[in-house]
Amino acid sequence: MGSKALSGVRVIDMTHVQAGPASSQLLAWMGADVIKLEPPSGDITRQQLRHERDKDSLYFTMLNSSKRSITINMKNRGGARVFEDLIKKSDVVMENFGPGVLDRLGYSYENINKINPGIIVASLKGFGSSGPYADYKAYEPIAQAMGGAMSCTGFPEDPPTITGAQIGDTGAGLHLAIGICAALYHRTHNGGKGQYVEAAMQESVMNLCRVKYRDHGRLMDGKGELAEYSRPTLGLTSTPRAGNDSGGGQLGNSIPCKPHGQNDYVYIVIQEAIWPTVATMIGGESLIMDPRFSTIGERRKNQGELWKMLADFAANFTKQEMTALCNAKDIPCGPVLTTGEVTRDKHVAHRQMYVKVEGHPQGDYWTVGMPVKLSMGNVDRILPAPTLGQHTDEILKDVCGYSDGQIAGLKAQGAFTNPLKKQK
Ligand SMILES: CC(C)(COP(=O)(O)OP(=O)(O)OC[C@H]1O[C@@H](n2cnc3c(N)ncnc32)[C@H](O)[C@@H]1OP(=O)(O)O)[C@@H](O)C(=O)NCCC(=O)NCCS
Repeated sequence: MGSKALSGVRVIDMTHVQAGPASSQLLAWMGADVIKLEPPSGDITRQQLRHERDKDSLYFTMLNSSKRSITINMKNRGGARVFEDLIKKSDVVMENFGPGVLDRLGYSYENINKINPGIIVASLKGFGSSGPYADYKAYEPIAQAMGGAMSCTGFPEDPPTITGAQIGDTGAGLHLAIGICAALYHRTHNGGKGQYVEAAMQESVMNLCRVKYRDHGRLMDGKGELAEYSRPTLGLTSTPRAGNDSGGGQLGNSIPCKPHGQNDYVYIVIQEAIWPTVATMIGGESLIMDPRFSTIGERRKNQGELWKMLADFAANFTKQEMTALCNAKDIPCGPVLTTGEVTRDKHVAHRQMYVKVEGHPQGDYWTVGMPVKLSMGNVDRILPAPTLGQHTDEILKDVCGYSDGQIAGLKAQGAFTNPLKKQK
């Protein structure tokens, strides 16, 4: 076993749905004791998109592995007291409630800080805690829409499109986790003082779209041009949708392969230095100095013809054959893989990025693995997500130090009862 990167860090994880749980799960996989504090009705995702009746959904288990679960009714006086005791014994409180929820429960950052000045309070919101949109709720597609991503994704002739990658939710969760780790480091070196950490979904999307804002700046209010785009950009005042153009300094595009099914494509990048190799491969040595393609500028201008030549060449190969052929020549190229293909991929298996989680009382499940590898810091294996309230008594005893009698008293008081049901 040994010490992990975040061994000894206790997190009260009040997060729900995707954005917050994705963040706290990473902390758990780096060794933190993550206590998922749920209302007695549970994180709503336990029941959403269920794949089997009466089982916690993959939506929940794939975002909450390796955590413990305690259910507390925060709107009950006894429940609130348990929460305060947990604050005293913890290093981090995380939440991604709607605007003002924690304040309404009586736990502003200032109030939590009074209970434990060493605590780090980490909030994830759609738009942050200040500014004109501070009161807006947010979900992934809204963050993609309002962070600029949707307007830049897809083909210009099609409507704005959301990306499959959850850049608003999990993307914001990553930013929050970085902030928490930095705040823990800061606390260690600054007399044990905690602080407030905030990540906003719109801001995370903007950060992940940084190169699109680079292109926005280069357009210079309609006076600049993006020469690498396959379609004209002069006169535009915002970054356009670029289809599958690479959007970088190197030309790139997706190229269809045989047998020409829906996902029979490779993505190929024609690095400047590799042009002679690509040219020789698709058209023979004479193509290297062909005036249509001999310089990067000419290749950009005539890229339509270039992609057509590549497609004619690739039509002889499957996406896997084309990938192997190109990589053998040091040409950057990768197949468009479906989720099925990724989950069966030998490299993905080698890197433990799609793993079976064993030991869940409702059955084993598969999850996407840990994308951050620390040579000394990760947990040895991913543990099952907790069932609702699975560790309530254990946490009340081990963390809060309550006796059986105290726990029974709190239960009688409704500290752990569904807040939606009327308290007697
Ligand atoms: C995701 C979101 C839109 C969901 O909205 P919602 O279902 O209305 O949930 P909220 O977080 O606004 O409210 C939760 C309610 O449950 C209550 N609650 C939560 N935990 C509780 C507990 N342990 N005990 C008692 N009540 C509890 C809160 O007090 C709140 O009640 P209130 O409205 O009376 O104040 C909203 O939480 C949000 O905008 N979050 C920030 C952005 C975000 O993370 N979005 C991405 C989600 S993947």
